[in-house]
Amino acid sequence: MPSPLPRRAHQALVHRLAESRRLRGNGEVLRGHHNINYILPLGVGLALLLGTVPFARAKLRIPLDTVEVVPRIWPSEAEVLRVVSRHLREVPRCLADFGDHSLHAYRRGRALSEEIHDDDVNDDLMRAFADFFVRTARIPVTELPPRPADWPDDGDSERFLHWLVDFTEERVHRANRDTFGSLFDDVLIPEDAMATFKRNHTGLTSRPFRLLHTDVHRANVVRRNRRLTVIDWELAIYGDPLHELATHMVRMGYGKQDRDRMTALWAEAMRRAGHDELTAGLDHDLPVYVAFEYAQSVFPDVMRAALGLPEEPDELDFRAAGRRICVAIGLAREPLQLIDVPDLERTVKALRRWHETHVAGRSTGRPADGDGMTAE
Ligand SMILES: Nc1ncnc2c1ncn2[C@@H]1O[C@H](COP(=O)(O)OP(=O)(O)O)[C@@H](O)[C@H]1O
Ligand SMILES: [Mg+2]
Repeated sequence: MPSPLPRRAHQALVHRLAESRRLRGNGEVLRGHHNINYILPLGVGLALLLGTVPFARAKLRIPLDTVEVVPRIWPSEAEVLRVVSRHLREVPRCLADFGDHSLHAYRRGRALSEEIHDDDVNDDLMRAFADFFVRTARIPVTELPPRPADWPDDGDSERFLHWLVDFTEERVHRANRDTFGSLFDDVLIPEDAMATFKRNHTGLTSRPFRLLHTDVHRANVVRRNRRLTVIDWELAIYGDPLHELATHMVRMGYGKQDRDRMTALWAEAMRRAGHDELTAGLDHDLPVYVAFEYAQSVFPDVMRAALGLPEEPDELDFRAAGRRICVAIGLAREPLQLIDVPDLERTVKALRRWHETHVAGRSTGRPADGDGMTAE
């Protein structure tokens, strides 16, 4: 039923009512990587205004101020959801978009991150993921919001990979060198790491571009009555479907066997659905995207380890942060062709030096340039 109010007045009223429900503070609060989410009972008034059933619940999404580490080509998740929820009916709709805040339908259920652990992803679950990837790949790309002007052409997989590499280099590595450059150097990440990666990975097979979620991991998958719903579409992009499979496998932390199984199920499901062309060059190019995931992740992992240190860290804090860095660098060793990797002692020393220069003695406890980054 259309609202009797003009659109802006309607939005403002919905926003005010949602805010007042949030401030009452009786809903659940779910903190994710990029947003803080308040689960609110809508009540009759809001439900009527939003044209949804009374007593439904909704999720008010408020962005957190976090370090930018992955590309976002569509600033409005609401626009993406409008397309996605038309085709994947289980995905909760965006009920109202207030600019940076938004109100989403709330799907009851538990995130997989609360249910299962790293070692018990079974065949059924993998088949469900494969099915999800096929259904997402079927969403007509003509319905998607416009891409940035410099976006690689459909099928130009190599340019797509290189766009991702350039993003890591410019927006994650270079953009943070003022604050973290000395730390990157001290833990032996070569300054030209991404340039070398790009040079070494050319000649990718062409695959048609599709809508990609790019963040399908346990915390973004809700299960209820054995049905899965993938939430959190704000990092969706348009590109090579192998990037989707690679980000999924790395972020799920699959071991070798699980990766092989997931890849086989993905390829089988795509072929069965008539999308053979999405699997072209799979054997050669999937490992390239997996390597990219580990390579790019070294910068955010090092920054988060440093930012996660308390204002007055003790030896244990430094060692825990140092271990996080060692793990990230260990995983990036082959992808970045690192000859020297730091041991724990060296990493701890590097963190101490960074902390000394950037945090210690400053009343705010924030990095020196006060760039408002937060650890996730
Ligand atoms: N419908 C839901 N059911 C169960 N848990 C949810 C639901 N929506 C969100 N969550 C929980 O809240 C977390 C953050 O929500 P999400 O939408 O992924 O935000 P973020 O963008 O911050 O990651 C999720 O990882 C999940 O654990
Ligand atoms: Mg999330």
